[in-house]
Amino acid sequence: MTDRGVSPSALTATHTAHNVSAAPSPCLVTGGAGFIGSHVVDLLLANGHSVTVVDNLSTGRLENLAHHAANPRLRVERFDINDTDRLAALMSEQTRVFHLAALADIVPSIERPADYFHANVDGTFSVMEAARRAGAANVVYAASSSCYGIADTTPTPETAPARPMYPYALTKYLGEQLVIHWGQVYKLPVTCLRLFNVYGPRSRTTGTYGAVFGVFLAQKLAGKPFTVVGDGTQSRDFVFVTDVAAAFVRAAFSSVSGEVFNVAANAPVSVNRLTELLGGPVTHVPKRPGEPDVTHADVAKIHAQLGWQATVSIEQGVAELVANIEHWRSAPVWTVDAIADATKAWFQFLGTETATGRVEDHT
Ligand SMILES: NC(=O)c1ccc[n+]([C@@H]2O[C@H](COP(=O)([O-])OP(=O)(O)OC[C@H]3O[C@@H](n4cnc5c(N)ncnc54)[C@H](O)[C@@H]3O)[C@@H](O)[C@H]2O)c1
Repeated sequence: MTDRGVSPSALTATHTAHNVSAAPSPCLVTGGAGFIGSHVVDLLLANGHSVTVVDNLSTGRLENLAHHAANPRLRVERFDINDTDRLAALMSEQTRVFHLAALADIVPSIERPADYFHANVDGTFSVMEAARRAGAANVVYAASSSCYGIADTTPTPETAPARPMYPYALTKYLGEQLVIHWGQVYKLPVTCLRLFNVYGPRSRTTGTYGAVFGVFLAQKLAGKPFTVVGDGTQSRDFVFVTDVAAAFVRAAFSSVSGEVFNVAANAPVSVNRLTELLGGPVTHVPKRPGEPDVTHADVAKIHAQLGWQATVSIEQGVAELVANIEHWRSAPVWTVDAIADATKAWFQFLGTETATGRVEDHT
């Protein structure tokens, strides 16, 4: 079965560079029906492991796992990670936990911080408590590069100061601290992966204004111009989702513990280059305060300690996205006005300018 024509990524299916040989283990993937989580599930199943997904389907979709419907090694449980008792019932001493469940859109985190705190901080506490009580074998946490805010140094190493600029970034960083702390105090093997901009098939198509690729692909399908933020020279260290899944699996089956790693391609790409690769007309929306001009990860640590590096180039990754473009058929098609409306809270709370670009008088 496929997700409205979205087959398992050809890059997932064909390249074996990321296969990690390890004895089959029980794995628990929170957020496994989401974008990145479903690719982690793909790789774990391909490597012979058995997988239990816990997902409340708040943003995830069962269709993301539909191609495994006949696989007896996959079990999907629909409930909230804050239900520690149900989580505990699924864990054992052998379980390797991949904790990806979170609310992950930035703008709504400014409008609804309580929901984000509950899902991302309380939820991580709940996962760590269940893992500790069960004596789980390992926990890998999906941390976020948003903790760096506007970094002083690029490429940015893991030792750069944390400066979360909005509630999503703060909640993910608090979750990271919690995971590392549980590792220290309860001697639970843990790893935190600070993901940079992850892209690839199955990325969220909720109604929320968000990641650049989802916005552009829906615009391309509708024959509308790409809404480039600012002048488009800002660049992001994009990393393809199958590479990210591989980093999770490597971390979970390594003996490294208590460490935080950047996960990125080490190859910043400008938004203008993306529109060039996707091909189509362009329009512009105002630059948002609090967003870095460049994100660029120093990935030396993950390469040295886990032997991981990205393998998919931006050209290959974009070609894969375009091949799966039908996934974005039902996604909202953003216009300049709709973006101004959707990002009002951003400008209101994080900047001195309005969403229309006018400087506000706060006196
Ligand atoms: N996509 C990126 O570029 C990126 C970058 C940095 C970090 N991350 C992190 O990676 C993880 C996965 O992100 P994604 O892009 O795949 O997002 P996603 O929204 O596709 O996946 C998140 C999944 O978690 C589930 N979920 C949310 N709250 C839950 C709860 N309380 N209980 C159970 N399930 C719940 C959702 O239904 C969804 O399936 C998140 O933790 C996110 O913060 C993503």
